[in-house]
Amino acid sequence: MNNILILGNGGREKVISEKLKNHNIHFYSENHFQKIKQICLEKNIDLVIPSSEVYLCSGIKDALQKTLKNVKVYGPNKFQAKLEGSKYFSKKIMNELNLPTAEFAYFKTFNDVSTYLETFYRKKREQDIVIKYSGLAKGKGVYLPKDYQEAKNAIIELHQNSLDNFKGIVVEQKLVGTEVSVLAFCNGNKAYLMPQAQDYKRIYDNDKGPNTGGMGAICPVNVLTKEELILVNNYMDTVVKKLHYNGVLYAGIMKTNNGIYFLEFNCRFGDPEAQVILNLLESDLYDIINDSIKNKPLTIKWSNNHAATVVLSHVDYPYSKLEEPVKVEISENIDNTVKMYYANIQEKKNQLYTTGGRVLNMVSVDNSIQQALENIYNNIYKITYNGVFYRRDIGSNYKIKNKNKI
Ligand code: AMP
Ligand code: GLY
Repeated sequence: MNNILILGNGGREKVISEKLKNHNIHFYSENHFQKIKQICLEKNIDLVIPSSEVYLCSGIKDALQKTLKNVKVYGPNKFQAKLEGSKYFSKKIMNELNLPTAEFAYFKTFNDVSTYLETFYRKKREQDIVIKYSGLAKGKGVYLPKDYQEAKNAIIELHQNSLDNFKGIVVEQKLVGTEVSVLAFCNGNKAYLMPQAQDYKRIYDNDKGPNTGGMGAICPVNVLTKEELILVNNYMDTVVKKLHYNGVLYAGIMKTNNGIYFLEFNCRFGDPEAQVILNLLESDLYDIINDSIKNKPLTIKWSNNHAATVVLSHVDYPYSKLEEPVKVEISENIDNTVKMYYANIQEKKNQLYTTGGRVLNMVSVDNSIQQALENIYNNIYKITYNGVFYRRDIGSNYKIKNKNKI
């Protein structure tokens, strides 16, 4: 039994801890190095799992390894985490290693990108563009403008909202196709793919409204063929080898009529993708992590089941959180076909409360995605709070498109 510190405290972190239930788990969710170090010492922590990019991109692994020699950290170091922390770095690596990705240009200053956009929209366009903040943007860094005005507004917003000093902007060619997430456990030499998953990023049904962290997910999907998965695996292997990447590597992929393209890399599990993917993992997660850290080959077994998750959020999400917590009531009659992971729920005197955002994930594992979703939607109304919100169409487009395949 090991003492494990998980950095983060949402639904993703709850499923990670469930997979490590034979160990002593502690949670901490601020990016405060001295406090993290103090917990490691007080609780005699053997392993730290920084589960969000915020810790990894700010170099938690490098800092912990420098000061606490006996603590293992699962995840990339600061340089490797630039795959997520800097879109420019990520695109450069993709080009260097010949990974298929949208054509792009990088602009360091607001004025440079501004001038580029003026010229771009003055000419007759054959191609739409995507505008991305190069640094971390908490899921709010990507714009798909329809015209010059929208593009201009996007760069103004990105410039004003940059959390850190302005990290520049990537402008790239817009791709059309089907998106899929392919995550991998990486041991410094090789990427071991997890089953492909899809998440639902927009807030409203039919993929309308603003982007969120994710409102639901399904796994496995069969967007990519076996041959395409081998190709993706080979491409991800080259990235892992080049950077000696250790930890979870998440590739956002677009399958187009012209083949597969890498949209982005994340340096950690997705939320809520982890809630479905890890529910299909049969091997011991601790062994996978431990072997990865030791650069050993990994043996990973997946179940043949199907998993779905629907996120319950507050109607104010993704715009704002609540100032006053509201009560959350969870009925006792919830079927045992579904599991729940608290994403933002606190308990006080036997009563549950939330301050909004993404509140809770309902997950089901069954012999088809449709059945898993049916289990969830048959139970979801049994959770009530003021302002409860969830998408009613998770998995439905997939069901229609792949009627005979799942
Ligand atoms: P990213 O953070 O780069 O994955 O972007 C977030 C979302 O923006 C993706 O999940 C896509 O839906 C969309 N997106 C990003 N890049 C492109 C692109 N080149 N073409 C079309 N859509 C894109
Ligand atoms: N659900 C998308 C992400 O975690 O990046």
